[in-house]
Amino acid sequence: MTEIDRTGDRAPAPADWTYAPAPESRDVVKLRERYGLYVGGEWLEPSETYETISPASEETLAVVGQATAEDVDRAVAAARAAFENGWSSLPGSERAKYLFRIARILQERARELAVLESLNGGKPIKESRDVDLPLAAAHFFYYAGWADKLEYAFPNRRPRPVGVAGQIIPWNFPLLMLAWKIAPALACGNTVVLKPAETTPLTALLFCDVLRQAELPPGVVNIVTGDGRTGAALVEHDGVDKIAFTGSTEVGKAIQRRLAGTGKKLTLELGGKAANVVFDDCALDQAVEGIVNGIYFNQGHVCCAGSRLLVQESIYEPLVDKLRRRLETLRVGEPLDKNTDVGAINSAVQLEKIRELVESGREEGADIYQPPCRLPEKGYWFAPTVFTNVAQSYRIAQEEIFGPVLSVLTFRTPDEAVEKANNTPYGLSAGVWTEKGSRILWMAQQLRAGVVWANTYNRFDPTSPFGGYKESGFGREGGLHGLEPYLRFDG
Ligand code: NAI
Ligand code: MG
Repeated sequence: MTEIDRTGDRAPAPADWTYAPAPESRDVVKLRERYGLYVGGEWLEPSETYETISPASEETLAVVGQATAEDVDRAVAAARAAFENGWSSLPGSERAKYLFRIARILQERARELAVLESLNGGKPIKESRDVDLPLAAAHFFYYAGWADKLEYAFPNRRPRPVGVAGQIIPWNFPLLMLAWKIAPALACGNTVVLKPAETTPLTALLFCDVLRQAELPPGVVNIVTGDGRTGAALVEHDGVDKIAFTGSTEVGKAIQRRLAGTGKKLTLELGGKAANVVFDDCALDQAVEGIVNGIYFNQGHVCCAGSRLLVQESIYEPLVDKLRRRLETLRVGEPLDKNTDVGAINSAVQLEKIRELVESGREEGADIYQPPCRLPEKGYWFAPTVFTNVAQSYRIAQEEIFGPVLSVLTFRTPDEAVEKANNTPYGLSAGVWTEKGSRILWMAQQLRAGVVWANTYNRFDPTSPFGGYKESGFGREGGLHGLEPYLRFDG
């Protein structure tokens, strides 16, 4: 008799659908106790150091360097030497070989890098495994393909590399942002000094190992770890020809002021407060999934997160009801558990920022909903949160929270939806949920946002340019557009 037959007179399913723990093993990652700075293909001993931790347990993972202005100077010199001594004059097809190699090694070592990404940054392994790593490899594959075709990409314009690129990246997608920055820079013949965010340096440091394995010539990519002081030293260095920055609008503005008049090229990918607009003719259950993915993916630490939900009034109640029930099924906790949907908040500082903004939402009069969930004692956690009864003037409707917090607003007509969606200093992304193709096209034209998703959200592809309007920054990463910031065309 089969198991199914025998259960005939018993309860057909367990009363409680709680998942058993399914931890991913940490053993694939071999951490060193200390990491230096990766300069000219060698590990430089840093004069200052700090400890990097796991935000899920607060345990120390390793000691890493806090690069000083002198360290940055050495890294820029190594990048300059590599640029002049061969890399920039290498045929595109040869550069492509290195990029293809890096892409393949990232695929081969995907598990190791994904575990480390979750360990150091707090994001669920499900996401680092299925999103960050595949996309990082895809970026290298994609730009490898362009390396020997730049003349075709920009016909009659004589594309040439810019020189040394200084690249400063944030902590929400550490390895993926590294790939977004390094792949196009190298494809175009530039060399790089990259600074990871202070809370998430480890995958960038493991990436140095990937570079060695790929036998990339020394100095083509240099990695200097450290906080904002290291970033500022890189921005201020005269030997850097281009700065690419992803991070807060505040720091982006400061960098733009600092570079004004220097002739250095600059791209900025800054904050966002995206509207996810749901019309009453949409597929409601699909929209709920899209809303959840839009704001709770990566704990909401996403610049293009759908943090403002604009719902057509006629479906407000059923939609909010479904959303609340869906929230109850989200599993919050250990990032290395394969069943986890929402991991740890990246740092104590970020947790404090989220708490403060959520408190302002309560005080200003919005209604808060959080599903019952038990958060671990150690580490930095925040329950998935929905605010209803939100007025456009509230801080939670205006400011980037960068956490798992959704603000719900309503509209009646498409014109009102557009007006509310565009009522923000940002312009990075937006979502539209409707069955009408014509409405999707009309909305995409009206919305002042670099990316507009229709009936989906948070979809990324290396072939598709990404970037913002207004205070979300300028310049595009990804696609053909992503090559341009790393090229000059001046004869
Ligand atoms: P941040 O802008 O300070 O950090 C981003 C990167 O810039 C890090 O590598 C940091 O070390 C570096 N940096 C900091 N100060 C610098 C300076 N003066 N010169 C050069 N580089 C500098 O962002 P932070 O403080 O980590 O987060 C604050 C808020 O910014 C978040 O709550 C979120 O709202 C937003 N943010 C947006 C991101 C995005 O993807 N657009 C990413 C990270 C943060
Ligand atoms: Mg900061």
